[in-house]
Amino acid sequence: MPTGHRKIIIAIDGYSACGKSTLARALAKRLHYLHVDSGAMYRAVSLYVIQHQIDIHDTDAMAEALSGISIHLSFENDAQVTWLNHENVEEAIREPRINQVVSDVSTLSAVRKEMVAQQRRMGTDKGIVMDGRDIGTVVFPQADLKLFLVSELAIRVERRWLELQKKGIISTKDEIRKNLLLRDEIDSSRDDSPLRKAEDATEIDTSYLTPEEQLQIAYDLARSTISQKELMD
Ligand code: DC
Repeated sequence: MPTGHRKIIIAIDGYSACGKSTLARALAKRLHYLHVDSGAMYRAVSLYVIQHQIDIHDTDAMAEALSGISIHLSFENDAQVTWLNHENVEEAIREPRINQVVSDVSTLSAVRKEMVAQQRRMGTDKGIVMDGRDIGTVVFPQADLKLFLVSELAIRVERRWLELQKKGIISTKDEIRKNLLLRDEIDSSRDDSPLRKAEDATEIDTSYLTPEEQLQIAYDLARSTISQKELMD
């Protein structure tokens, strides 16, 4: 273990397409930690809602839907695979149709309650890097290290566009920009667990940093946090 025996919880939050998952995955790999992309869980609920044509504002229908949903994450070769009722949905949850509804689905307290409970169980053994919107504020307010990523809009659009292109998904930059702005607005203005920077989070502007540079900054912060914890043990 390159960083000693003490395991910590690392929370990475921020706006869509700032590079949270890429950084969280690389950091977890370097620390030999588990990486959990919590957005995948909200995406899986959204896929279920679309597949079953559920009106998300119908409280009873949503409660029934949630009782019929089982979301499971598995980890294969350092990559997270998302399962919805025993079906591998890792690719399906990344489709643009999910982006249209996921922020609305994520405003629902009933959904958040279920997801947060499951996410907290994953952190029981520490040694975890979890990325999302409310990880440092709600899921793990006691996280040992909290990072909050921000990035310029034009760069986020470019990043998301390239990501979709690689997957063969055609979307215009204008569509992507509108969707990102809409999701920023919904994610940060919802009543339950809005996206915001935790007071004790370190902000990283990823606009002009390469993935390697971001990883080095995060890794150095993680190492010094781990060393401090070890000194206190
Ligand atoms: O990180 P992502 O783009 O895959 O997240 C998809 C949506 O899920 C995002 O628009 C808001 C929601 N989300 C959330 O509300 N809380 C989280 N911890 C993670 C994601």
